Amino acid sequence: MSVVMKKPNTANEEVAVTRDTFGSKFGIVAAAAGSAVGLGNVWRFPYIVGENGGGAFILIYLACILVVGMAAMLCEFLIGRRTGTNAVQAFKKLAPNTPWFLTGWMGIITSVLILSFYSGVAGWCIHYMIASLMGGFTGLDAGGINQTFGAFITGYEPIFYQMIILFITAGVVFFGVKKGIERVSKILMPLLVVLLVLLGVNSLMLPNAVAGFEFLFKPDWSGVTPESILIALGHSFFTLSVGMGVMMTYGSYIKKSDNLGTSVVSITAADTSIALLAGIVIFPAVFSFGLEAAEGPGLVFVTLPHIFNNMPFGQLLGGVFFFLLTIAAITSTISLLEVNVAYLQDTFNWKRSKSTIAVISVIVVTSIICSLSNTEVLGHIKLFGLNFFDFADKVTNDYLMPIGGLFIVLFTGWYMKKEDIVDELTVEGQKPWYVEPFLFIVKFVAPVLIAIVFLNTIGLVG
Ligand code: TRP
Repeated sequence: MSVVMKKPNTANEEVAVTRDTFGSKFGIVAAAAGSAVGLGNVWRFPYIVGENGGGAFILIYLACILVVGMAAMLCEFLIGRRTGTNAVQAFKKLAPNTPWFLTGWMGIITSVLILSFYSGVAGWCIHYMIASLMGGFTGLDAGGINQTFGAFITGYEPIFYQMIILFITAGVVFFGVKKGIERVSKILMPLLVVLLVLLGVNSLMLPNAVAGFEFLFKPDWSGVTPESILIALGHSFFTLSVGMGVMMTYGSYIKKSDNLGTSVVSITAADTSIALLAGIVIFPAVFSFGLEAAEGPGLVFVTLPHIFNNMPFGQLLGGVFFFLLTIAAITSTISLLEVNVAYLQDTFNWKRSKSTIAVISVIVVTSIICSLSNTEVLGHIKLFGLNFFDFADKVTNDYLMPIGGLFIVLFTGWYMKKEDIVDELTVEGQKPWYVEPFLFIVKFVAPVLIAIVFLNTIGLVG
């Protein structure tokens, strides 16, 4: 794909001629939803809900999605489509000779850090797929499964699977077989949803499933701390893939005639339902089997094998499930890598192959460091009390994405020209009803909320 740079704010029709655009409205929603739906929904969401007390946390999370996350996604889409380029260049075009482009840069750093631990967890899924199919969990009780999980992630095997994930990811980005992947995932992702629904029904029929259901949907505010609000906020960015310029890059591929607002609503609805579905699969089972809700990152990897152990055809279903989860994770790692590769291509005029090799070389190193930090080799090195793996997870979710999101909404609300925003959101000459509320949110509500949550957590106010 060659990208011809245009002068700032030239008509978008010109951009559309020189850049790939998504073929159809369904195409953009499917691609962005593919980026959004991943381990964040099935692995991360349940475990942070478990660690932060359940229902009350979910309400805060939903509020963050509705008020801040969706607005941030719309900002990214409209900046991307307006400028027709990657996140760094987009800021340079709209705000020449200002430091705003650093927001794009921060996104690049964030995506490298996310890839470093995310590819590790994706690798765990491959191992779980194989173990499940081979009957590796048969006969084990929760304690036994927990033990095998602990032994697995503190060993060296995860590095092998992580390298497979990175190899596949780089291969897809390198050879540009994205179209193939998109076609495959359009079939496999709905299948993942079907399987989640099936598992959800199964979980709800377990003895004492009610306790898990109540944990999820009956808010108990006693477990909520300022820190959990920051975690909810950070996760709402993480799960929607916003706050780091990825959706900006996607926005640059959206046709001028497409309605950005309805796209944001569809993507968010798909993402949120899958996360809630994952919760409905996990928590009734956690309470039914007497497992620990606040288990941490191992939650899904201990609970799911246990569920499959107690299901007809569990071995096979477990294998299929972890296969689909691996694919969901790979569609996310592809877009995480793609932003960096696109940036190098656009900026230095490097070939796709050269750019891919450059980025993946860095990521192989940072990924191995993350995985080794779960073993005794690097486990003793702590940054702010966390090993590299947990540090990469925490620093991206709690700091880099909220700050990136803050800059993106501030930029849209206070720096961009209102006419440009209205023009981008106008569909067939009609200004949609939500334009004014949206502007109010990005100018005042979102920045103030992000700032308060943030300052409160780091202890500066409150
Ligand atoms: N949203 C992805 C998930 O829920 C994770 C993610 C965060 C991501 N930022 C991204 C994926 C950027 C692709 C691109 O699993």
